[in-house]
Amino acid sequence: MIKDKHIAVCVSGGIAAYKAAGLVSLLKKAGAEVRVCMTENACRFIAPLTFETLSKNPVITDTFSRETPYEVSHVALGKWADLAVVAPATANILAKAACGLADDYLSTFLLAAKCPVLFAPAMNSAMLHHPATQANLKTLEERGNIMIFGGAGLLACGDVGDGRMAEPEEIFAAIEAYFSEKRDFSGKKVLVTAGATRERIDDVRYLTNRSTGKMGYAVAAAAARRGAEVTLVSGITGLPAPKGVNRITAESAEDMFQEVTRRFDEMDLVVKAAAVADYTPASPMVGKMKKGGDFALELVRTKDILAELGARKERQVLVGFAAESAELERYARDKLRRKNLDLIAANDISRQDIGFASDENCLHLYFADGRSVQIEKCEKEQAAERLLDYAAELLEQKGRQS
Ligand SMILES: Cc1cc2nc3c(=O)[nH]c(=O)nc-3n(C[C@H](O)[C@H](O)[C@H](O)COP(=O)(O)O)c2cc1C
Repeated sequence: MIKDKHIAVCVSGGIAAYKAAGLVSLLKKAGAEVRVCMTENACRFIAPLTFETLSKNPVITDTFSRETPYEVSHVALGKWADLAVVAPATANILAKAACGLADDYLSTFLLAAKCPVLFAPAMNSAMLHHPATQANLKTLEERGNIMIFGGAGLLACGDVGDGRMAEPEEIFAAIEAYFSEKRDFSGKKVLVTAGATRERIDDVRYLTNRSTGKMGYAVAAAAARRGAEVTLVSGITGLPAPKGVNRITAESAEDMFQEVTRRFDEMDLVVKAAAVADYTPASPMVGKMKKGGDFALELVRTKDILAELGARKERQVLVGFAAESAELERYARDKLRRKNLDLIAANDISRQDIGFASDENCLHLYFADGRSVQIEKCEKEQAAERLLDYAAELLEQKGRQS
């Protein structure tokens, strides 16, 4: 799996820098192409010559070096690498990467890199547990970077605790795992909608529905793991944003219409799993409505997002969801046709054990070409993976046609 892969090993200035030599050696033995860059401080711990000899490539430490004067080295390395591995990752380099600083070669390369980055943090426990480092780690993870930590043990400073760098063999295994994962959405732009919308009655009350967003969040997370650039347009939910996903919050059906339609043209795949209100109060009140006698709430239709996308669709694959309590197939197929979808995933909401707020789902898939498939009851994460397998097929078919 690692053979012929382009791996940039980035060494920063921690005591574990010597272990990075073992990692480079393992990668070379597995047939990878390795290029090493080091911070100035890393060179105080281990000589570039060690890495040059092991990687059989020059080591880069200086942004302004003119060894290859025709190329901008940090940008070229950023395009060349399939994966960047920062080992050891000092508290300092984690902070710089989280903030987007670019004041030396290594940090400038990380900002220019198009590939995912695997960080192997290594530092004293107090530095690791400092709220600033924890916040930086969280930021980097949320951006889709991969973290690999060593267990607790005796540290170079004499303390016992967390902060050891993972062993070269463990980092190598994480790199192998990364390359063996499915990356079939690499280079694709995917938009997913999830959750319920809220339609304002007044400033404190609203109309909503039972959707929790779990299914859509699972689809967004799976697409990101499989290499897609994912935008998640989400109603208000209590769910954390999945790793590596750009989440945009849209409260009402109108907000969701605007956020989705403005991004549609640049997308390859759109999965509309949100439960968007069909009706909204005709004249929401400003302030809080005072209690009085009975009253009738006048509702008007919201804009139909799926129908709009279906009408505009050119090269995109468009996947809709349908929640039905009766005649599932008939209603789902009808929606598929009317809205010009490529695929519809129908939920039987008369079942108590799946669907809304549940961790499991069973999906009936109906395709524009007449096919149908059932995804048997399983965790929503698994259902999301299966749904994406079918979406990937549709994307490939469209690619062949165009
Ligand atoms: C002997 C010694 C060991 C160090 N080990 C670590 C370490 O393991 N992790 C860390 O984050 N910083 C460590 N430091 C501090 C870093 O070298 C320092 O923060 C430096 O500015 C990091 O620079 P760089 O991230 O540009 O390589 C150590 C410093 C010394 C003197």
